[in-house]
Amino acid sequence: MRILVTGGAGYIGSHTVLELLEKGIDVVVIDNLANSNPESLRRVEELTGKKVVFVEGDVRDRAILDSIFDEYKIDGVIHFAGLKAVGESVAKPIEYYDNNLKSTLTLVESMRDHGVKKIIFSSSATVYSADNEVPLRETSKTGGCSNPYGWTKYMSEIILSDMAKADPEWSVVLLRYFNPIGAHKSGIIGEDPNGIPANLMPYLSKVAIGKLECLSVFGDDYDTPDGTGVRDYIHVVDLAKGHVAAIGYMMENNGAEIFNLGTGTGYSVLDMVKAFEKVNEVPVKYKIVGRRPGDLATVYSDPAKSREVLGWNAEYGLEEMCRDTWAWQKKNPNGYKKD
Ligand code: NAD
Ligand code: UFG
Repeated sequence: MRILVTGGAGYIGSHTVLELLEKGIDVVVIDNLANSNPESLRRVEELTGKKVVFVEGDVRDRAILDSIFDEYKIDGVIHFAGLKAVGESVAKPIEYYDNNLKSTLTLVESMRDHGVKKIIFSSSATVYSADNEVPLRETSKTGGCSNPYGWTKYMSEIILSDMAKADPEWSVVLLRYFNPIGAHKSGIIGEDPNGIPANLMPYLSKVAIGKLECLSVFGDDYDTPDGTGVRDYIHVVDLAKGHVAAIGYMMENNGAEIFNLGTGTGYSVLDMVKAFEKVNEVPVKYKIVGRRPGDLATVYSDPAKSREVLGWNAEYGLEEMCRDTWAWQKKNPNGYKKD
């Protein structure tokens, strides 16, 4: 079997490519390197001893996609490629709608015209409305997104679902990720954000290694046990394995189906700080500041459907998430950059 992985050089993509190769699935990656470094794939090859076919290109470029489908027999696609910074999407809505929606549309047009009608899409817990009760189920209310990034995920889900309604040959799997963190246990691949990280764990680990001064905890007056925000953190390797399970499902079933990929357990910001300090025996300096606009108090999943239908379950806990984040950070203080 051969899978085309868009955005495969990125954080979740590179970990998924590794799991696919280890399962004996061949991979072709297309990535424009807008937010990644091809070194990630070189290291995946080193870890697996297997070859990744890499095409540097933009998923909005129809000619490149056509040439990939013409050259390789592709059985299905995992579509990771997209811009993902919430704050940046508010400042640059045109770039976000253009990149994330045009890439999805160009990809499915090329797929349809080459008779490849199986796709797994990277969606997000951000598509759920703010007024749901937790845990969030696949049937919980969606929409009312607070930023253009969230709307691109919401709209892509609608486009892909409508496509499956119109043509019963399509198999569409929409995976709603909660908060992926951690890294491969080797510490050889991991998350390498550009500039100052916007997300909790990459920021926290940069404070621990001394590259950033102090973690700002955004609010301690939420209605949560310790007042700080609660999220469903999931180990990126568990998330990657969720994609392998989804491929099995996609190959056997048509139509569109949604799955949460989370652990079902919520941890607060201070839980994360304390666990990181304890597991890695390293202090993390932090201060409490005001809330970040748009943040919710508590977000976590009900992963029952993924367990029952995909047979997938997150295996790693908080300790492994903290340990592996730190192993990657320590081994690669400058990420994939060589200095
Ligand atoms: P990432 O930025 O590390 O990976 C995305 C990859 O897509 C990058 O390598 C980037 O260069 C590439 N890319 C972007 N636009 C492209 C285009 N037009 N053509 C070709 N390549 C392009 O991000 P990630 O954390 O690995 O996320 C992967 C997917 O999962 C994204 O769609 C993201 O929105 C989604 N997601 C991520 C999270 C998270 O917290 N990391 C949560 C929910 C959903
Ligand atoms: N936080 C801090 N300080 C920081 C960064 C984050 O206190 O420097 C807090 C936030 O307020 C929140 C928690 O840590 O309570 C997690 O924040 P992240 O930015 O790491 O993650 P979010 O839950 O805000 O959002 C992430 C992705 C989105 C995705 C969403 C899915 O960034 O793209 O998870 O649930 F949609």
